[in-house]
Amino acid sequence: MSGADSEPENRSGPTGSTLWHGRFAGGPDAALMAYTVSLPFDRRMWRDDIVGSRAHVRGLARVGLLNDAERDNVLAALDQVHAEMADGRFEYLASDEDIHTAVERRVTEISGPAGAKLHTARSRNDQVATDLRLWCKRELVQVARGLYDLQQVLLARAIEAGNTYLPGYTHLQRAQPVLLSHHLLAHGWAFERDIDRLLATVDRLDVSPLGAGALAGTSLPIDPAGNAADLGFARPFDNSLDAVSDRDFVAEGLFDLALIGVHLSRIGEEWVLWTTEEFGFAKLDDAFATGSSMLPQKKNPDIAELARGKTGRLIGNLTALLATLKGLPLAYNRDLQEDKEGLFDSVDQVNLAVAALTGMIATATFMSDAMQAAADADVTAATDLAEYLVRGGTPFRDAHAIVGQLVRRHLAGEGGLGELAALEIDTEAAALVGAGVGVRQRTSPGGAGPLAMTAQLEKYREMLSAEHDEFTRRQ
Ligand code: ARG
Repeated sequence: MSGADSEPENRSGPTGSTLWHGRFAGGPDAALMAYTVSLPFDRRMWRDDIVGSRAHVRGLARVGLLNDAERDNVLAALDQVHAEMADGRFEYLASDEDIHTAVERRVTEISGPAGAKLHTARSRNDQVATDLRLWCKRELVQVARGLYDLQQVLLARAIEAGNTYLPGYTHLQRAQPVLLSHHLLAHGWAFERDIDRLLATVDRLDVSPLGAGALAGTSLPIDPAGNAADLGFARPFDNSLDAVSDRDFVAEGLFDLALIGVHLSRIGEEWVLWTTEEFGFAKLDDAFATGSSMLPQKKNPDIAELARGKTGRLIGNLTALLATLKGLPLAYNRDLQEDKEGLFDSVDQVNLAVAALTGMIATATFMSDAMQAAADADVTAATDLAEYLVRGGTPFRDAHAIVGQLVRRHLAGEGGLGELAALEIDTEAAALVGAGVGVRQRTSPGGAGPLAMTAQLEKYREMLSAEHDEFTRRQ
């Protein structure tokens, strides 16, 4: 899919000349080429470059800058380049600075004078912006689809969890019991926002820069709106300077990916805790755990740890691009070439993390006895006792103080919280302390108890089916 095809395997062929050799007395120094080439990574956009070039050629023909024979000739050459690249036969030359150069050079070799017209009224500046937008439109939706699979696993596991409950925490201190399904879907809703954000980013970036030229348009009678329609973009650019210098969509994509990373990282941190002997809330399937090279007894949650650990670089890729962009005057600057590696890396890392975590969560065993035992500590009923007093008319602040004293006496060894409640309040209050009672008290809408959960599961299921339709629509 990704990194695998990013390294040109053959760049040792004859050195052709650069696209811009006419202006220069001699060829470029090897150090310049080594430092400035982007082919090793932008080669990944080869399909988009060819798609963009086909539309450009058809556009040139529509306005009479290519005749029909020339158009068909160049389109056939582009098909041949496509075939060569698809099956790895394409021979890259040391002078191929980037994917755009490589494709154009080869098209010209194949189709001669007609090929030499390919770059008419086009610059690599509008070309690279077009390629990258096409790439993002496809790849960011793919990331969203991966998240959708994870959401389905979360929903399935939530349904399967039934009335299993565990402690809900604040400050990582036991607070109130919550249904496991509620906890799992809490993450599920975060991924819903992530998907929404990715699709909104894709809709916003759905603008064709093709026809902006190097920065200012052209004197030739081109048709940017026709090109936009041909490429399936929602609209053409309005301002050529903006079209070639705008990388907001990359920054937005990197932010979306970084925030997904933050969400994955939080799940990772929880699962690192849950799989400890101390918590013992979950056991990983052997296929999704790793061993230790020295300690035979170890079973480690490396996926969860890397979901946490790799998020640092997702955040780094975002901040690196923002730092690159902040000093740039209009319009294109070569600095913009730095937009791609971080983006590709973030997309790859998020896709890998989502797939691994999805498998880990789908196959893990939840240890409901340990979860429930941890949630059944007397003190987790304290708020329910206070709310019981509130139902009898006691102001909440007073109820809080009364129950607080009972908790203090309970912790000092004077007796179970239920016993003390029976003594100081009444037996109905005492019945609120006990295994499995607490979670049923969370009856308010969106709350952690079974009643509210039924509604939430239904809503989540409906939302996933609407999302499924949305993905079908975008195919
Ligand atoms: N490799 C370049 C990039 O990624 C392509 C555009 C080059 N444009 C130029 N004027 N040198 O940004």
